[in-house]
Amino acid sequence: MKFFVDTADVDAIRELNDLGMVDGVTTNPSLIAKSGRDIKEVTAEICEMVAGPVSAETVALDAEGMIAEGRELAKIAENITIKVPLTWDGLKACKVLSGEGRMVNVTLCFSANQALLAAKAGATFISPFIGRLDDLNLDGMELIAEIREIYDNYDFSTEILAASIRTANHMKQAALIGADVATAPPAVIKAMASHVLTDKGLDAFLKDWEKTGQKIL
Ligand code: E4P
Repeated sequence: MKFFVDTADVDAIRELNDLGMVDGVTTNPSLIAKSGRDIKEVTAEICEMVAGPVSAETVALDAEGMIAEGRELAKIAENITIKVPLTWDGLKACKVLSGEGRMVNVTLCFSANQALLAAKAGATFISPFIGRLDDLNLDGMELIAEIREIYDNYDFSTEILAASIRTANHMKQAALIGADVATAPPAVIKAMASHVLTDKGLDAFLKDWEKTGQKIL
């Protein structure tokens, strides 16, 4: 499973990228607002740092506007993926932009039918939002499994990009189901390294080591 980082925080991306943990980046208008930076400037910086796809989201509501904004965002760098919402107009924009050979990420997907439409419209990535479904006491992971089954039934090449990931357990479940990509905030990726028994074991080793009075360096 590929790891995308869901942030516009360049320092956080750099830290994970230096560890080889970053296959791509996703941003959205809320994350750009949180960064406090200009969308083109911060996105260009991310694109230069990361070799994989970097999603930049359009904000127009009509297909024509999304297409124009998408073409403008695509000028930032070769690895820009244009993110459009899963609305009827978003599907129209996806069809046109993907037809021009551009990578398109169709976002805000909450049903298998929406994912099926996005694949038919030529999406490079479909972004089902797990956490926001879980917030409503629905099963976000079940949606990932349904989309996986449908895409496999018909050999769609659209990649499932599990989004709105809130926990390390979400990462594990998405990987078990076979999501192609998972995009997660830096803190969630770091949390995957934590285990209470690792901390406890390390503590015990260090206490015993202290008793030996030895030094390695
Ligand atoms: C995906 O591309 C979105 O940017 C993101 O995963 C949304 O996550 P949230 O529901 O935690 O805002």
